[in-house]
Amino acid sequence: MTKPMHKREPPRGSGTRGSEPDRANESAVDLIDKLGGYEAKIAQGAEGRVFAVTFLNRPAIVKQRFKKTYRHPTLDAKITRARLVGETRALVRARKLGVPTPSLFYVDKRQNAIYMERVPGRSLKELIREGMSDEDMEEVGRQVGKHVAAMHDGGLIHGDLTTSNILVARRQTGEGDDGNAAEASLRVVIIDFGLASNSIIPEDKGVDLYVLERAITVTHAASRLFEAVMREYKTASGLWSASFNKFAEVRMRGRKRSMIG
Ligand SMILES: Nc1ncnc2c1ncn2[C@@H]1O[C@H](COP(=O)(O)OP(=O)(O)OP(=O)(O)O)[C@@H](O)[C@H]1O
Ligand SMILES: [Mg+2]
Repeated sequence: MTKPMHKREPPRGSGTRGSEPDRANESAVDLIDKLGGYEAKIAQGAEGRVFAVTFLNRPAIVKQRFKKTYRHPTLDAKITRARLVGETRALVRARKLGVPTPSLFYVDKRQNAIYMERVPGRSLKELIREGMSDEDMEEVGRQVGKHVAAMHDGGLIHGDLTTSNILVARRQTGEGDDGNAAEASLRVVIIDFGLASNSIIPEDKGVDLYVLERAITVTHAASRLFEAVMREYKTASGLWSASFNKFAEVRMRGRKRSMIG
């Protein structure tokens, strides 16, 4: 269920050796290159990389998936494309369900790249690490709970609800209020639908919540944040009870496993 977090090794064995993006589709224009994206890499994961670019005058990010050179090229192209389409669909679905996500700008199927709005915020992981006020934890937890409930009630499982996939932006509005609206000015945006799936099965929702709990409560100081998530989920979801039951089960299993070793 959890993805390997190791950095990907350069492709081995195959003829395409370049360290730069594999240009198997030579005929296609490399838009990331044109936009200078390769000079502005902001993240590298096991499945792909993320670059910062300006797209049609707007701050954007490009998320590009790697080709897996150990797979047969035709099969690989199919799998990579299916994931790309899957991620795009999930992103759009989440948005339709009222979940704040980056707006989708463009999908480049030839380059296996998704272009989307660059959210001006920090990851929840960074915020927790630096220390959050109780008020901010309450507010962020409340928003996360509401959004996860909306996804789940809509039959969408995020699949990777970690604190790196939750961005928190400070709203620009409300200035001049002598800072009294500090908590309301935080805005949670959910990203990374690369592992999302459609499901209405409570077990899948329970696993989603469990992954989130683990991610948030690795720092004991943030357990208050997860409590706020659950409180709001319960308020917002019409199906919370089934999700919570499964969550408790999944959690118990996790605990037994860690006791055994
Ligand atoms: N729309 C965005 N705005 C700002 N930063 C972003 C955005 N999308 C991604 N990022 C940054 O890039 C990082 C990696 O992006 P993302 O989580 O989508 O990819 P990933 O974790 O490599 O993907 P996957 O889990 O599918 O392998 C994020 O944690 C975040 O810091
Ligand atoms: Mg991610």
